[in-house]
Amino acid sequence: MNNSDLKQIWLEKFKTAPQTLSNLKKVEAVGAAFNTNIDAVLKLSGEKLLELIRANGLTWDDLSSVSKTRLDAGVDVLKGIFKCFSRGIAEEWIAEDITVYNWMVDNLGYDRLQMGGQCGIVSNALGACGVRRMYVHANSLPKLQADQFLPLNNIRSFDELGTDRPAYQINRVSDIPLIHWIIEFDRGDKIELDGHVAICPKANRFIATYDPLNLNLVIDNNFLDNMKTQKLDFAIISGFHALTAENNGQALIDKAYPLLKGWKKDCPDCIFHIELASTQDIVIRKAIVEKIAPMMESIGVNERETIDVLEIIGEQALAQKCDLETTSENLFKGILKLKENIGAPRIQLHMFGLYITVQDKSFKLSPENNLQGMMTAACVAAHKAKIGNIDNCGCDPLWSYDQHVSDIGLDELKTLADFIGDENLIKTGIGEYEGYDVIALPTIIVEKPVTLVGMGDTISSISLVASK
Ligand code: GLC
Repeated sequence: MNNSDLKQIWLEKFKTAPQTLSNLKKVEAVGAAFNTNIDAVLKLSGEKLLELIRANGLTWDDLSSVSKTRLDAGVDVLKGIFKCFSRGIAEEWIAEDITVYNWMVDNLGYDRLQMGGQCGIVSNALGACGVRRMYVHANSLPKLQADQFLPLNNIRSFDELGTDRPAYQINRVSDIPLIHWIIEFDRGDKIELDGHVAICPKANRFIATYDPLNLNLVIDNNFLDNMKTQKLDFAIISGFHALTAENNGQALIDKAYPLLKGWKKDCPDCIFHIELASTQDIVIRKAIVEKIAPMMESIGVNERETIDVLEIIGEQALAQKCDLETTSENLFKGILKLKENIGAPRIQLHMFGLYITVQDKSFKLSPENNLQGMMTAACVAAHKAKIGNIDNCGCDPLWSYDQHVSDIGLDELKTLADFIGDENLIKTGIGEYEGYDVIALPTIIVEKPVTLVGMGDTISSISLVASK
């Protein structure tokens, strides 16, 4: 079957998305912990990047022979941006020294501030879609942070006295704002330096983080105490990725472990999902995969995060293969390894053009419901990419409702269908492999996205919660 016939089939299937989206209004309660911050977003052109590279005396060789992924000085920020720009990839590097933050203030500036951190982003997304009580953990909640929450009464957090209030109305006056730099670039933009040319193959972003509270996994006990009394349907967990071994990260994970165990014990019916996020420190990545992820019912990853985890579970060859040929077939093999190694009942990959969920037959949410959730997530994500936000997604029709799925997505879906030996997957999105349910969805691609940051968090959380 050719792609235009398939596009028609998927357009028909996507017609249920508005109904699934409105069903989110029936979900009682979701909790999101731990990382909420403010993102300072900057769209950087190749021209401006080149100017900064020259002003800081960096050569092509300095930029193309980067091995560390930590920010010790301002020039490291430029190396990180160049790496992501030239490869079209997404990474987040951590700075532990305030001089790097000051360098960014002085040299980069920003276009706008917006909600940041997996938990903050997920809370605004699910809150806008109408989840009845969306509880968000914030280890710092001064007015500037509260201003990034949508002004909705269903998005809730805790003030310094532990009172449950709409998050946008809270102002914990002694807290400090936690600002991360999000540097976005466009596909096709280029840099010419020392006789070499780098052309950005895919719109993407580099994140430079200086955040003393999230780096120390500071936890608001008022939040945890309260969550135990709530009948949560889902909990979305993230925020370990910013820890580093040098900064006591392992001990912080050890400290969080019993807290999460206790939370899970008190909410036995809640589905816990972890968004793995870009974790540069290998010791920490290992600790997340070995200690935290096995407690979870569901895991969310993108292409890069899949490769990063493969590298630390003894699957270097497959990691390399996924890196060289980032196809649905290789990544599918990758997420199967992750699922089996971690023992996760459900795993979802969001790759360029395609989402794939693999889950146990006994998983609480059926493959059909998962597909509904994933289609809804694809519509919300495309709307966000095109319009720049989803602030009214519970009320207004989404831009994406009548858009066709992408050729890239369909081609990747065909590759996956060939691999699992089930041609029907191309039309139904539902198949089986080695005793697992496989749900795969070609998605809508927005050519010139207004924004991409937080896309993975939005996709994972809406896919899961809208599957209920
Ligand atoms: C990471 C970054 C945060 C960003 C988020 C988007 O958590 O630290 O700044 O908003 O990723 O996914």
